[in-house]
Amino acid sequence: MNVYDGQRIAAMLKTRGMVETDNVADADLIILNTCAVREKATNKVYSALGRIRRAKKESALFGIVGCVARESGADAFKRIPELNFVLGPQSYHKLPEIIDNPDTKLLNIDLGGLEKFDELPQMTQTPLVAYIPVQEGCNHCCTYCIVPYTRGREISRPFNDVINDTINAANTGAIEICFLGQNVNGYQYIDENGTTYRLSDLIRAAAQLPEIQRIRFTSSYPTEMTDDLIEIFGTEKKLLPFLNMPIQSGSPRILKLMNRPDDLNAYKTIVEKLKRVRPDIQISSDFIVGFPDETDEDFAETLRIAREIKYINSYSFKYSPRPHTAAALMKNQISEQIKSVRLQKLDAQLNENQREFNMSCIGAEMLCLYESADKTGKNLVFRTPYMQQCIVAKPDQKIASMQKIKIIDANKSCLHGEIIKSE
Ligand code: 5AD
Ligand code: SF4
Repeated sequence: MNVYDGQRIAAMLKTRGMVETDNVADADLIILNTCAVREKATNKVYSALGRIRRAKKESALFGIVGCVARESGADAFKRIPELNFVLGPQSYHKLPEIIDNPDTKLLNIDLGGLEKFDELPQMTQTPLVAYIPVQEGCNHCCTYCIVPYTRGREISRPFNDVINDTINAANTGAIEICFLGQNVNGYQYIDENGTTYRLSDLIRAAAQLPEIQRIRFTSSYPTEMTDDLIEIFGTEKKLLPFLNMPIQSGSPRILKLMNRPDDLNAYKTIVEKLKRVRPDIQISSDFIVGFPDETDEDFAETLRIAREIKYINSYSFKYSPRPHTAAALMKNQISEQIKSVRLQKLDAQLNENQREFNMSCIGAEMLCLYESADKTGKNLVFRTPYMQQCIVAKPDQKIASMQKIKIIDANKSCLHGEIIKSE
């Protein structure tokens, strides 16, 4: 979501004639796009602000946008008096106001809902992967999560708006569409005729665009994984065989405390149904270790589910108490030391899953999407349909963005392959 917001901010500023620089000392405008989901991220924002404050030109405008802006509000100006603007994740389209009035201070952390989408100019150039938000905010109330506070109540965007953005992305360079939402599979829009649109309708419409060759979506909430969505994995070949469906913990007791779906059998049934319609599908998850009151036995259940579902490409975090959340006030907070040990153990399991899956890919032929050159400039990095990185030697001739690649080697972090020459 932040990558998307960053791209839109950059595109908006370009329409005003601004150009990007990597050099803070050169910049006339410096924007930190921020994440508040864990305390560490928030702390990093403030240390970066301290560094920027010292390095920037006196005249440069300087501020924060995103969730830390919303969380800190006017306090941000107290902590860093030089800041010119503090704009929440739904008000960054107001940036031009501060450019036009550089001698003022701009604070806007309102939950404007979908207003920003109407205000932002359309992208004139889209990267190969286009992020398309289908909703803002989240109506689930996971007790650890600050997002319902920072991004507000869930609102699904009108179907036609999402499709227009998708068509525009296809016409301006995108090959892959990634539909985005905090609760993306809960997308539901009812138009003025009473017709209901779901994520499966968005996928079907995007798949009709000839330029679009790959479709994925993130992040899914387990109980919103309805049969229409499961079935579309069997019928829509452009939909990648890869689903991010966070479970967070393998302990029903902890899931209840998290206010998350706690029926592990129901979760496993969804995975089985998906495998029935798309036998090659792989699942990824996010995990939180050290949630308040998590015992060794609860944690062992998390390890067990990670092994059983064989999650790939997953993320694991130490629980971080956040303001405006219920879990921050719960008893039996877990020590940093225990959290670290559990995180290490879980990461070892997730790495083992990834290594096993990567090794099983050796010999396979996969249609992959170009991402970038590697640091050496001698290799190219592609993304497989499972979002693994695949490295190939840079060929002499120009290549297309989608390439069939034979996997020749693998380790826990990536694959190595050879481009299969088309006859
Ligand atoms: N502490 C640790 N991890 C968190 N996440 C969300 N809130 C917290 C928190 N307070 C993780 C969840 C979520 C991901 C985006 O961030 O795993 O899926
Ligand atoms: Fe946060 Fe995701 Fe839960 Fe919504 S579903 S409250 S964004 S963790």
